[in-house]
Amino acid sequence: MSFEFQRLTSEWEGLFRPFFREEDLEARVQPINGETRYIEANNAGSTKPSIVGLRARETASAVYTSPHSQTGPHAREITRLFNDAVETLVKLLKANDKNLMFMRNTSDVLNEISIMLSASENREPGVVAVERTAHSAQYLPWGQFHVTTEIETDQYGRAIVANYRKAFQERNYEGAPPDERIKLAAVTLSSNTNGDRLPAEIVDLARRYNVKLVADGCQDAPHHEQDTSLYDFYSLSAHKLYARGGPGVGAISKKTRPVRFGGNVVVIDTNGKPVYDIDEDGTVPRSVFDLGTIDVLGVIQCAAAYQGLHDLRFQNIEDYEQQIMQHTFNNLKDMPGVNVYIPKQYGALVLFDIDGLPSKLSGAIYDTFHGINLRSDNFCSYELMRRFNGMSLEEYKRIIEEEVRPRITKKNIPDAVRVSWSIFNRPEDIILFLDATREICDNVRKHGVAHYENFFTMDEKTGNFSLRPEFKPRLAG
Ligand SMILES: Cc1ncc(COP(=O)(O)O)c(C=O)c1O
Repeated sequence: MSFEFQRLTSEWEGLFRPFFREEDLEARVQPINGETRYIEANNAGSTKPSIVGLRARETASAVYTSPHSQTGPHAREITRLFNDAVETLVKLLKANDKNLMFMRNTSDVLNEISIMLSASENREPGVVAVERTAHSAQYLPWGQFHVTTEIETDQYGRAIVANYRKAFQERNYEGAPPDERIKLAAVTLSSNTNGDRLPAEIVDLARRYNVKLVADGCQDAPHHEQDTSLYDFYSLSAHKLYARGGPGVGAISKKTRPVRFGGNVVVIDTNGKPVYDIDEDGTVPRSVFDLGTIDVLGVIQCAAAYQGLHDLRFQNIEDYEQQIMQHTFNNLKDMPGVNVYIPKQYGALVLFDIDGLPSKLSGAIYDTFHGINLRSDNFCSYELMRRFNGMSLEEYKRIIEEEVRPRITKKNIPDAVRVSWSIFNRPEDIILFLDATREICDNVRKHGVAHYENFFTMDEKTGNFSLRPEFKPRLAG
């Protein structure tokens, strides 16, 4: 696929530029060798806020008060705005058969679902299937509160349909002991490390073998239309959806719902037990919790930003992002001095390293010399980073036991560099990033790592690099 710079640039100008504030798009920074436009290359971490989201937040802020108390015009208005926002999210997420829950972020939603399902009144016999290479937000909650079985991924951390089929067949045959059956599979709709999407066959298999699905949608939702009706539990994060400061949104199937979050729906009876409305379809939750005060403004901002994203049309988003990503991948793959970890382009990110440079030093160089913000880290996917770095299990164990556990240093935890684009990025960003990468590789080849190392000091505990104080400040005033 050719990279038609002019055509793509005018497409971006017309379609995506108006979605963002000029002050974000044109933010300036002062790298060490001059001033430049700030380039956001960590969109998989968090996205810049959309104008529609910010406006909705501002409008709602003007009448902000505690919602649902219904005792004044502001309360009525904020309640109306909040209810509309929930309705929008339900519609766009195809979550009619769901209750929405609002937490801090995806991690909180997944933690909460795991804890809820472990409560005695909700606990079902069986094990939870997890992938070791998943983000720790979708790995850790299950092992701590449930018995788990691991489903192996391929060497790049991609889900393998055959492995799911085998695990379901082996454990969920007719008459299988209930404790050994897989009751739930924790799946990831788009990976934050390899960019791959969950194969649809795994969803079909789960249905066939009566396995519930808890889906982490936070990396998928900014790029593709979501259909939460496919999953029993679903989560996303507003901060990855162009709604800075919004909540984590969880969607919980009413059919399999173990819990209801109530505010005004909870009444406590004389025995201290909750009384609640039974849904129209007759479903009864097994537990009830008080909802507490919700991040109302965050929910309103999230719904408006997500509606705005839908208005841009996901087909347009996918087409544009695919072109800028393919160009990034093709160039990185063939660039001398760059090691790309995944053999094919998936999603909106590329994981790579520059020969000879520790990942975190690469991150510091992009920032300090080029004004480019990308992430260099373990991406909360420790097992996958270990594999990518070709580190043996023994060596990883040694690092954990001798360096990390005694809190000596985290500098040797395997990591990588990730560039992740979104509709916030104009084609010029991709060109500037590739030019910067070429320059860094050339400098390392010609002058060695010392060319860059001299500018930085490394924090022994964290392994992070920071610019030596004798160099000038980097943030534009
Ligand atoms: C795949 C995946 N799952 C979960 C999370 C956690 O998201 P949050 O920080 O919003 O809880 C992330 C964060 O980047 C992620 O990439």
